[in-house]
Amino acid sequence: MPVLSVKNLVMHYRTKKGYVRAVDGVSFDVGVGEVLGIVGESGCGKTSISMAILRLLPENAEFRGGQVLFDNGNETVDLVGLADSAMQKYRWKGISMIFQSAMNSLNPVYRVGDQILEAMKRHYSEISKEAARKRVEELFRLVGLDPKRMRQYPHQYSGGMKQRAVIAMALACDPRLVIADEPTTALDVIVQDRIMRELKRIQKDLDMSMIYISHDIAVIAEISDRVAIMYAGKLVELADTLTIFERPMHPYTNGLMNAFPSVVGQKRKLRTIQGEPPDLLKPPSGCRFAPRCSYADGRCKEADPEFRILEEGHYVACFHPVEKEGCLIKGVTESAE
Ligand SMILES: Nc1ncnc2c1ncn2[C@@H]1O[C@H](COP(=O)(O)OP(=O)(O)OP(=O)(O)O)[C@@H](O)[C@H]1O
Ligand code: SF4
Ligand SMILES: [Mg+2]
Repeated sequence: MPVLSVKNLVMHYRTKKGYVRAVDGVSFDVGVGEVLGIVGESGCGKTSISMAILRLLPENAEFRGGQVLFDNGNETVDLVGLADSAMQKYRWKGISMIFQSAMNSLNPVYRVGDQILEAMKRHYSEISKEAARKRVEELFRLVGLDPKRMRQYPHQYSGGMKQRAVIAMALACDPRLVIADEPTTALDVIVQDRIMRELKRIQKDLDMSMIYISHDIAVIAEISDRVAIMYAGKLVELADTLTIFERPMHPYTNGLMNAFPSVVGQKRKLRTIQGEPPDLLKPPSGCRFAPRCSYADGRCKEADPEFRILEEGHYVACFHPVEKEGCLIKGVTESAE
C-alpha cells in the first residue's frame, strides 16, 4: 500500500492569457520508506506538483481533475477534496515539505530553536515545554547541528546550517512523507552533496517516504529509489533508478542522459536537446515533446501518448519508445571526443 498515490492529477493556473497547464494528468505512487525522484527542466511543473499535494496553492490555481490519496496509517484520504481546515491535520504532521528557497524561510528575528519549537507546539498542543525542547535538541543532533546553536539567530548560521535547520523543522512533527523541492540548490556544491547524503541517511534511519525534486540528474541518481521524468506538465517516464539510467525508453530521457557528461569511461561529446520546452499556455497538440523529438511522426503530432506500463514498474508516455543501452551508469555509448 503506497503512502501517497497521485492519480491523473490536473492543476492549472488561471491567467489573463488563459490557463497555464502546469500539471496535466500526472500519476505516480510513493511507497513506504521509498525515495521517488522527480526531475525535469525549469518550469516543467515540479514545484506545482508539490504545492498541489500540500494544497499550498496561489489563488489562481485550479484543480481540474484527479486525486491525491494519502495513507495516514489509519485511513486513506483524498487531499484534493478536503476543506482547508481538514487539510491542516495532514500538513507537516502527515506530509511536510522542504521548500526550494528554504533557507530564507527562517524568521530572522527569532532564535532558530524557538522557531522549530513553535512549529511543533502548533501541532502537538499537549506537548510540555520540556519535552518539546528535548525533541528540538534531538532534531538538531539528527541533522548534524550542535544543540548549543538552538539559542542562536539565523544570521549566525552559514547557508548549510540554515538548510539543516529547515530540514529539522520539516522533521519536527514526524511526518510519513517529506517533499524536498530542490533543497540544496542555493548552496555550494560540496555543502550540497553533504546535505543531500545526510538527508538520505535520515530518510533511511527513520524509514520515511520522500519525494525529492531536482533539475540535477546526478543528484537524483544518487538519492532516489525510483525516478520520474517530467516534461512540460506531464510525466513522460517512470522506473527504478537503474532502469532509468541504463535503459531509458522515452526520447526525452535519452536526450537528458546524452546531455549529461558521463561520470565513468571516456569523455563523451556533450549533446544538448535542440529547441525549447513549450509554452504551457499553449502546449502543442499531440505529444508535447514532438517539436524537439527526432522520432516524431504524424501520429505524435495529433494524439497525446498515454502514460502506460511497458514492462514491470516501467512507465513511458511515447508511441515509439527507444530501446537502446543508456549511458550514465554503463559508460560510453555516444561518439567519443
Ligand atoms: N502562480 C502562477 N500563476 C501562473 N503561472 C504559474 C504560477 N506559478 C507557476 N506558474 C507557471 O507554471 C509552470 C510550472 O512552474 P513550476 O514552478 O511548477 O516549475 P518547476 O519545474 O518547479 O521550475 P523550477 O525548476 O524553475 O523550480 C511554469 O510555466 C510557471 O511559469
Ligand atoms: S510520442 Fe512521438 S514525439 Fe512524443 S516522444 Fe514519443 S516518438 Fe517523440
Ligand atoms: Mg520549482
